[in-house]
Amino acid sequence: MKIQVITLFPEMFEGVLGSSMLWKAADRGIADYSFINLRDFGLGPRKTVDDTPYGGGDGMLLKPDPVVAAIEQARQNDPDALVLLPTPRGKTYKQSDAKEIAAAGQQGRGLIIVSPRYEGYDERITQWVDRQYSIGNYVLTGGELPAMILIDSVVRLLPGVLGGETSAEIESFQDDDENIEFPQYTRPEDFRGLKVPEVLLTGHHGEIAKWRAKNAHKAGPA
Ligand code: ADE
Repeated sequence: MKIQVITLFPEMFEGVLGSSMLWKAADRGIADYSFINLRDFGLGPRKTVDDTPYGGGDGMLLKPDPVVAAIEQARQNDPDALVLLPTPRGKTYKQSDAKEIAAAGQQGRGLIIVSPRYEGYDERITQWVDRQYSIGNYVLTGGELPAMILIDSVVRLLPGVLGGETSAEIESFQDDDENIEFPQYTRPEDFRGLKVPEVLLTGHHGEIAKWRAKNAHKAGPA
């Protein structure tokens, strides 16, 4: 799956995409990450990418011209790609979105992710975007961390990335709330007086499955 990221800070991605499963996905040829530096599309001798908002207000906005030029270049590299914009204004991103994007990836569709910075972007860029996603009800300093979250959640679903897990198994999770995992335990059986639930030690698969189903809900506060 071809994944192009438009950003002013490509170096922020190095640790995340260069380690562990995301790195392995690239090494195995399953994911192909590349970066388009928005600065290269900046205007004038100072390569300006931002400007003050019409109507007043604090902070600077990304100008539409450099962002759209960068998207157009990315689209030339991959005409069928889905263009994603992480933004607090977007629809809340869910596991079902990750699955849908990973499925599109298996059909050969790549991703172009625009990572905004500064206080925001000129709204007109959304005309060049297919999906706007919020990764939660809080505000970050830019779209790079959300972009990495989108990439991680999609790439782990691509066949061959996680050992032993088939895409069919993943498809069996139907809705977003069913996707919550049950608690798990490993050795030792008794850790500082905290015991592993008895049923998990029995080897009784039916009872274990029942216990897991019963406990596959969100953890309470603390
Ligand atoms: N950019 C800043 N905050 C964000 C959020 N919560 N989700 C997506 N993009 C963002």
